[in-house]
Amino acid sequence: MAERRVFITGTAGFIGFHLARLLLAEGFRVHGYDGMTDYYDVRLKQRRHAMLAQSESFTATEARLEDMDTLQRTVEAFRPDIIVHLAAQAGVRYSLEQPRTYIEANIVGTFNVMECARAVPVQHLLMASTSSVYGANEEMPFRETDKADTPLTIYAASKKATEAMGHSYAHIYGLPTTLFRFFTVYGPWGRPDMALFKFTRGILEGTPIDIYNHGDMWRDFTYVDDLVRGIRLLIDAVPPLPEARGGSVPGANVPGDSLSPAAPFRIVNIGNSDRVRLLDFVDAIEAEIGRKAIRNYLPMQAGDVPATWADASLIHALTGFRPATPFREGVARFVAWYRDYYGR
Ligand SMILES: NC(=O)c1ccc[n+]([C@@H]2O[C@H](COP(=O)([O-])OP(=O)(O)OC[C@H]3O[C@@H](n4cnc5c(N)ncnc54)[C@H](O)[C@@H]3O)[C@@H](O)[C@H]2O)c1
Repeated sequence: MAERRVFITGTAGFIGFHLARLLLAEGFRVHGYDGMTDYYDVRLKQRRHAMLAQSESFTATEARLEDMDTLQRTVEAFRPDIIVHLAAQAGVRYSLEQPRTYIEANIVGTFNVMECARAVPVQHLLMASTSSVYGANEEMPFRETDKADTPLTIYAASKKATEAMGHSYAHIYGLPTTLFRFFTVYGPWGRPDMALFKFTRGILEGTPIDIYNHGDMWRDFTYVDDLVRGIRLLIDAVPPLPEARGGSVPGANVPGDSLSPAAPFRIVNIGNSDRVRLLDFVDAIEAEIGRKAIRNYLPMQAGDVPATWADASLIHALTGFRPATPFREGVARFVAWYRDYYGR
């Protein structure tokens, strides 16, 4: 079989790096596209890209999504079979301070990626959304077919817009499109703005760690190796065109399917499908490091939600995917990476 060509945006980022590594190991040719934004330590992004560059099947472009000329030229030259769009301005809290960055990267940037995807055209466009789109929903676990109309931040709203824009292009251009909703991803090479990273650093340095909602927080923590395996499997689960379904109604073959009646478009949760109490997560980090945290209990933050929990039965039905990493094991692997990387 001919080598498959995947264009991934956000390869210097946490998830894009891990996905590129997995696909390169599987024999894909990968072109990474990343603007190396300074939202967090750019050296960490450069180190990730340098590791990927050890593979002869990896090439990369450092440019912004908003730079349509460069994006278009790069995609046209690479001629991908598949695009996985992960680059974005991430982070719930930062969106309260810098909302415009989210509009530029996540809305204008995503629009540019979709324009390139339809021009090629690719066989499958896959794009990242987030559990944050479930907003103030209280019924758990969250299912893809639940209403998700109460985004609490401009981050969540920009991802809801990504989903809606993706649906429209899937409909008009018959572009097979999958949107993932990720749930709090963690693991080695993780993001410095996220809790596991901050907690580990605080415990090792003996500085206080901030614990919001007085610790009454629950998260569906998803280990990054599990997550990228889920993405890999979904690459081959191409949503069919409505006219190719032989009259079958979405959801008839796969129970709970979010397949659109009007487009080759589907939204899929990728989560661990298990809730962990934040305090248990902190206990696990303390146990791994062998030192107690100085805990600074604080009220809930604006725009945050007390709990997330994925119903992951759709990805299981589509691909057979099941997460395989218990959170204590995932925490241990992160702490080992952190100590090695920072020499602590
Ligand atoms: N990590 C999580 O827990 C999580 C949860 C839900 C959704 N997501 C989504 O998954 C995707 C990947 O997240 P991540 O955790 O790897 O984040 P990350 O910040 O580590 O990676 C994103 C990458 O995109 C690049 N980027 C940002 N804006 C850009 C722009 N305008 N042009 C070009 N490049 C740009 C950054 O330089 C960065 O390397 C994002 O779309 C994010 O919203 C992540």
